[in-house]
Amino acid sequence: MAQAETTRRVLLAGVCGAGLGAVGAACGGAAGPPEAGASTPAAVKAPPTAPVTLGPVTDVPLDSGKVYDIEQVVVTQPQQGVYKAFTSICTHKQCQVGSVSQNQIICPCHGSRYSAEDGSVLNGPATQPLAAKNIAVESGQVVLKP
Ligand code: FES
Repeated sequence: MAQAETTRRVLLAGVCGAGLGAVGAACGGAAGPPEAGASTPAAVKAPPTAPVTLGPVTDVPLDSGKVYDIEQVVVTQPQQGVYKAFTSICTHKQCQVGSVSQNQIICPCHGSRYSAEDGSVLNGPATQPLAAKNIAVESGQVVLKP
């Protein structure tokens, strides 16, 4: 029996060490170190001083969004034809958010989730919302405004 328990612990340690995403929360805890493959804290860039074209608006799916890593912005489409933008820097420990799914902006580091509608926190450990960014859709392109 003791050997079976030891084997189970070794197996779990191996799984956590491998950093498998599905079990990452159980291994790292809510405020633990980033999961393997997660973003690391990013240096926050200064806002642009001139408009920046991010890309085609067709890259931003309905009920989802797109993260523009270099520009540190996440653009969402929470309703058909309605586009929102927020900083992509998580307010918890400054990782880049990783994805948008079902109108939730997800940080891969510790699992914070934000509303794709208004950037508010839906699930911690983050406690502060994502700051809104100013964008426009011009000639089919998403443009980040200063
Ligand atoms: S940095 Fe911790 S949840 Fe984003």
